[in-house]
Amino acid sequence: QERTFIAVKPDGVQRGIFPEVLKRFTQRGFKLVGIKLCTANESLLRKHYVDLQEKPFFNSLLSYMTSGPILATVWEGKDVVKQGRAMLGATNPLNSAPGTIRGDFAIDMGRNVIHGSDSVENAKKEISLWFKPEELVDYKSTLASWIYE
Ligand code: GTP
Ligand code: MG
Repeated sequence: QERTFIAVKPDGVQRGIFPEVLKRFTQRGFKLVGIKLCTANESLLRKHYVDLQEKPFFNSLLSYMTSGPILATVWEGKDVVKQGRAMLGATNPLNSAPGTIRGDFAIDMGRNVIHGSDSVENAKKEISLWFKPEELVDYKSTLASWIYE
């Protein structure tokens, strides 16, 4: 089964939006296989955002992401990477549709509440960056036959 890395950023944790994130992914039918509250250090974030190192906003992104605890999660399910991105909404919350997490809970790009992997390949990379293998739980959901035909 496909997996994705979803992280509630420090603003989403401080503002109490994380239960809503867990609720939406769970009720959609995705299975939670990893979860922890953690603070990200700079070296992890430099690896996580390696593609953005040259951007003018990179330093403010680093201070944003180290400003408080992050809720790191891993979800499993059919097409979960792409579906997860759709549930998050556009990067800039001003362009995020209502009904998406950013469209419902954010205004500024630098306070956009949540991260989601943008490809299956990056999901694998991010999951191994944020989680040790033994922190991921393999189990059978008893609901699977109610969710999948
Ligand atoms: P993530 O799910 O967080 O990775 O967002 P994304 O994939 O939609 O966007 P991207 O990976 O390009 O950028 C990562 C994060 O950097 C965004 O979520 C924003 O928080 C921040 N960011 C991206 N572009 C800008 C920008 O132009 N200005 C500012 N201030 N922040 C930006
Ligand atoms: Mg991204």
